[in-house]
Amino acid sequence: MSEYVIKGGKKLQGEVIISGSKNAALPIIAASVLNTGKTTLYNVPEIHDTKMMFEILKSIGGEVVKKKNKIIIDTSKINKFEIPEILMRQMRSSVILAGALLGRYHKAVFSYPGGCDIGTRPIDLHLKAFEKLGINISKNYGNISCNCDKITGENIHFDFPSVGATENAILASCLAEGTTVITNAAREPEIIDLQNFLNKMGAKIKGAGSNKIEIEGVKNLKDVSYNIMPDRIEAGTFLCVAAITNGELLLENTNPYHIIPVLDKLEEMGCKIETEKSKIKINAEKKLKSVDIKTMPYPGFPTDMQSIFATTLTTVKGTSMIVENIFENRYKYVQELMRMGAKITIEGKTAVIKGVRKLYGANVKATDLRGGVALVLAGLIAKGNTTVENIEYILRGYENLEIKLQKLGASIEKK
Ligand code: UD1
Repeated sequence: MSEYVIKGGKKLQGEVIISGSKNAALPIIAASVLNTGKTTLYNVPEIHDTKMMFEILKSIGGEVVKKKNKIIIDTSKINKFEIPEILMRQMRSSVILAGALLGRYHKAVFSYPGGCDIGTRPIDLHLKAFEKLGINISKNYGNISCNCDKITGENIHFDFPSVGATENAILASCLAEGTTVITNAAREPEIIDLQNFLNKMGAKIKGAGSNKIEIEGVKNLKDVSYNIMPDRIEAGTFLCVAAITNGELLLENTNPYHIIPVLDKLEEMGCKIETEKSKIKINAEKKLKSVDIKTMPYPGFPTDMQSIFATTLTTVKGTSMIVENIFENRYKYVQELMRMGAKITIEGKTAVIKGVRKLYGANVKATDLRGGVALVLAGLIAKGNTTVENIEYILRGYENLEIKLQKLGASIEKK
């Protein structure tokens, strides 16, 4: 088990280049299976989750080659349709491969996915979409077997705009006979990126970014190269790094339009934000103000930024309130933050944060990806040394986190 050792109290300044998006890369890597041939991807973040996705692809017969800044995936020799349970357990996004395998080969066997423990995270909406498309599903000792003779376009309505279920429904419908219409679809930018990638491959999809997506089935797709969008949650994380340290940062390779609610909250807190097409400048030297936040599906405030904002607010004078509406178990990190001196009370979905003057260095444990990185932010301002253990969670989603922070002036080491 690795850990970060952080000496707090440094003012951070400088430029940071935002990596490719984890949540866009994972479904796009899975989508490469829909084409029998080669896909070249740029801007894929080198993180544990993308490595796992490549391992899964290899385990079913795919080939993955890294050449300088690009990844070439060859899916022409895929000959297995079962996703190994051990890999499935490591990462929730592995479930996305099911939609791609079904779309291409009309069969897929997988188990219930793992991932961060931030709630029950069922996959009923994914399975409901598959059933709607005429796919037979049988469950046996935790294994889920799906197959069908053909997929026919259908209307799919989601009770909740699930990101993963929307992506799975798109993947399973790309090569279907007829048109699939998804309503109450998730609207995240990563779904637009998936649509753009698939359309470049020859798919006929429109509407991503709105709550109605139409997929007209095509017979075949073709080899393409594609540049993955920048990671909006990593961008939000570094903006909070600036806010919590009262620093000044310039983010490059980012899209301000993707994080409007995050920028809006930071401005409400008193940060000065300037944006250009692919850059965001933040100055947080002024005393910050407390704010209230409610997480919502996109374009609402992202649940993935909840722990990071809560941490940023721990030393802001006054009382801030956060309501977590997406995942029911996303406050596990709070106990660790309280060991560092934060004053937070949790009542159901709501966290009430009373600003304290200082946080103090402690040994803390990452409990999930975003909760883990939140503890790193706390360490950056804590008095004394903080050791963040279990950073495997953080390595799932952040590329070179300690190197990027060191360049900004932080004292952080990975051990
Ligand atoms: C994706 C993101 C994750 C983000 C989340 C919400 C990826 C790889 N991960 O996760 O970082 O936090 O969106 O923005 O893109 N639900 C069901 N049944 C289902 C599916 C989901 O009840 O079949 C519920 C979940 O338990 C949760 C809510 O819907 O309460 C949102 O989940 P969903 O949008 O599916 O998130 P993920 O795709 O898992």
